[in-house]
Amino acid sequence: MPTDWYRNLTNSGVGGAITARAGLPRVPVLRRYEPGQPLLAGPALVGAVGKGALVDATRALLTESGATVVDAAGEEKLAAVVLDATGARTIADLAAAQAILTPAVRELGPSGRLLLLGPEPDETDAEAAAVAQALEGLVRSAGKEVRAGATANLLVVASEAVPAAVDSSVRFFLSARSAYVDGQVVHVGVPVGPPVDPAGMDAPVDRVRPLAGRIAVVTGAARGIGAAIVDTLARDGASIVAVDIPAAGEALATVANRTGGTALQLDITSDDAPRRLLDHLRERHGGVDIVVHNAGITRDKLLANMDADRWNAVLAVNLAAQLRINDALLTGTGVLRDTGRIICVASTSGIAGNRGQTNYAASKAGVIGMVRALAPRFAERGATINAIAPGFIETEMTAKMPLGTREAGRRINSLRQGGLPVDVAETVGWLGQAESGGVNGQAVRVCGQSILGA
Ligand SMILES: NC(=O)c1ccc[n+]([C@@H]2O[C@H](COP(=O)([O-])OP(=O)(O)OC[C@H]3O[C@@H](n4cnc5c(N)ncnc54)[C@H](O)[C@@H]3O)[C@@H](O)[C@H]2O)c1
Repeated sequence: MPTDWYRNLTNSGVGGAITARAGLPRVPVLRRYEPGQPLLAGPALVGAVGKGALVDATRALLTESGATVVDAAGEEKLAAVVLDATGARTIADLAAAQAILTPAVRELGPSGRLLLLGPEPDETDAEAAAVAQALEGLVRSAGKEVRAGATANLLVVASEAVPAAVDSSVRFFLSARSAYVDGQVVHVGVPVGPPVDPAGMDAPVDRVRPLAGRIAVVTGAARGIGAAIVDTLARDGASIVAVDIPAAGEALATVANRTGGTALQLDITSDDAPRRLLDHLRERHGGVDIVVHNAGITRDKLLANMDADRWNAVLAVNLAAQLRINDALLTGTGVLRDTGRIICVASTSGIAGNRGQTNYAASKAGVIGMVRALAPRFAERGATINAIAPGFIETEMTAKMPLGTREAGRRINSLRQGGLPVDVAETVGWLGQAESGGVNGQAVRVCGQSILGA
């Protein structure tokens, strides 16, 4: 893993003192998830604008998780501030939100969480629609203001969604699992699939192993982000099918073995890849619950110097292979099980564009377009499909960048550091849960609120 020397310097005794005296910013050490860790490291302030349809459920969730819920900041720093603004419709409601948030954010502690729950815009009421959108501006700005590794995110909740449908997302965004997810707006609708019995959704979920009993296939699993996804999903209870090219067979076997999973050597661009993958899943595992399209390549060149080989290779791995496998999952029978979750790794390059990456950015933007188009089709099967767009992640790939480019990439986000592969993996884990069926067709960035493409 590449070293962030500047972060280490600002967190060391002497180095920290010198950099502070020079007025240089400190790079926070982010709280990350460890099994057995409590949801929050301190009290949570929970407030509501107006009645707040989700405020009671949120308080109950926090109490059940062992957190102390307060109405006003006290002596102890707050680990989280949750504002249920789903009832906000007027400028006066926005003022009420500000009145709650201002004293609260002053007391937000290190790696604190500011989480707003907002309404879907009501297009028949201009003020209500404006207020719904205003919450995005508020949250995205707050993300740039909060310090010491704190994050700010907004869940836009459909009015028909039952509180239990929001649970897995609230938990993720409050927990240390979302360490590098900042400034995001995620829509939570009515969960896909047959109508959910709210009593059933309230049934105890295994919080330590939320993916227990689920089969997960991860492509590009031999190293980097893919290997971290394997480790994280296995830690959360999933059985793993690890896929990579034959040339990566040894590393692939190591990754699969350490989680007790199976390895499948497969070039996902080969003609028979969808059939071989589905056969393996059907015959060896009786189906699949989570499909993570993580394999990806870069072949950078300026557009003016681009050749067809580079263009086609990147589009084949990053986009065409995903399209073909998704099509097979939709049309094949007996493979994709109920509450299937497809998760496609895109990139912030696909949102912001990147010099020298017309092919890569086209493929990754294409993934986001594919996800949007396929969401209703997977929903008919009781499944979801979402994209994750990582920003600057500390991997062997980014370690090879020239120093200046790498340093710039690390710092141009609200958390002033690169993310870790595990940050992408934790986001996959959240979207992979059966309880996350209200999140469909979205692109969630794992980028520390990078200014690129914001
Ligand atoms: N590292 C970053 O900062 C970053 C940022 C944004 C997005 N991403 C995306 O995250 C994903 C993982 O990135 P990474 O940094 O871990 O990359 P990596 O190069 O370390 O790993 C990619 C893996 O995919 C495998 N692979 C490539 N072609 C394949 C094929 N045809 N069939 C099967 N497997 C194949 C490779 O063998 C390798 O093991 C990629 O989709 C990448 O585009 C990475």
